[in-house]
Amino acid sequence: MGAGNIARRYHIKGYVTSSEADIVAVTDIVKDVAEQAASEYGITKVYDDFQELLQDDTIDAISICVPNQFHAPITIAALEAGKHVLVEKPVALNLGEAYAMREAAQKNNAIVMVEYPMRFDSGYLKAKRLIDEGYLGDIVLVKGTWCHGGPEMYTKGKWFFSKELAGGGSLIDLGVHSIDILRWLIGDIKDVTGFCSTLTKSIKVEDNAIISLQFKNGTLGLVDTSWSVRSVQVRTEIYGTKGRLLLQDSPVTSIEADFADDLHGKLIIAHTKDTGDNDPHVKCVRHFVRCIAEGMKPDTATLDDGIAALEVIMNVYENNYATKKGNPV
Ligand SMILES: NC(=O)c1ccc[n+]([C@@H]2O[C@H](COP(=O)([O-])OP(=O)(O)OC[C@H]3O[C@@H](n4cnc5c(N)ncnc54)[C@H](O)[C@@H]3O)[C@@H](O)[C@H]2O)c1
Repeated sequence: MGAGNIARRYHIKGYVTSSEADIVAVTDIVKDVAEQAASEYGITKVYDDFQELLQDDTIDAISICVPNQFHAPITIAALEAGKHVLVEKPVALNLGEAYAMREAAQKNNAIVMVEYPMRFDSGYLKAKRLIDEGYLGDIVLVKGTWCHGGPEMYTKGKWFFSKELAGGGSLIDLGVHSIDILRWLIGDIKDVTGFCSTLTKSIKVEDNAIISLQFKNGTLGLVDTSWSVRSVQVRTEIYGTKGRLLLQDSPVTSIEADFADDLHGKLIIAHTKDTGDNDPHVKCVRHFVRCIAEGMKPDTATLDDGIAALEVIMNVYENNYATKKGNPV
């Protein structure tokens, strides 16, 4: 559902490389786009109308790869039609919509997953294991950076710059990943403050944001996002009482680690290359398929995980200190 950038780069590949799924149909509001994707991947059915697609009994599950504005209404319609859903991030434009999605998922006993790729990246999985097994000691400080030149680097879609279609700017688009990954590594978030500003683009949503977090276990965190920088920067830093980790660049993640029990501060550097069929986005899609095929409740990237990140973002938008001081955002 939606055959733009993310569907073409990753979702379709996830289903194509899964032994447990076949792609039945594709639909896009722009018919040519759907037809192009269909011919590229040998998909036989192209639906003009999403409602028709929902009536197709040969379809068990739908990937929702449309602008953010449609995530909630289409997810709810798909769930009501008895389909499982893999929805793109952010799960919805606001919390009212997100909670309605949760209600529909529960009512229809369906699987909903959110496409959070970093949770499937080998480097991040390794980091989680090191943290959970205590190698870093108590985690005191975490930082998540996600910056690039803006959505125009990846897609022709202009909807990213509309509050009504996207829900916000760089924070909801990019910060959602860092918030989710830090929550996954550390635990639930208790409190948040932040600043959002429009610094370089003529748009009505923020192109830069910074937020500070307090986790329930006391750990402090920082997240920064930008649509204004020339190079892509994706970085997560974890500081514990016994060691630290630095993860950079997804999907080819490098991990730097040093541990306090090594008195010479030996730096361990590992590179994990999750590319091609092993790309973390693609692995996320295959995990979704496996959950459905094996009748398993997803253990990661759940709808609740999607809602938790959105709760943090909405809190920042409502209490944006830059706005309170008269910033144009
Ligand atoms: N998980 C990630 O890392 C990641 C990365 C990039 C994008 N995304 C998310 O994926 C979603 C899509 O982003 P994109 O970059 O592919 O955007 P895009 O603009 O390239 O593609 C969106 C497609 O949806 C189609 N569309 C729009 N409204 C529709 C409707 N009502 N019904 C059917 N089709 C419709 C458009 O014609 C377009 O082809 C967004 O929610 C974005 O946040 C996630």
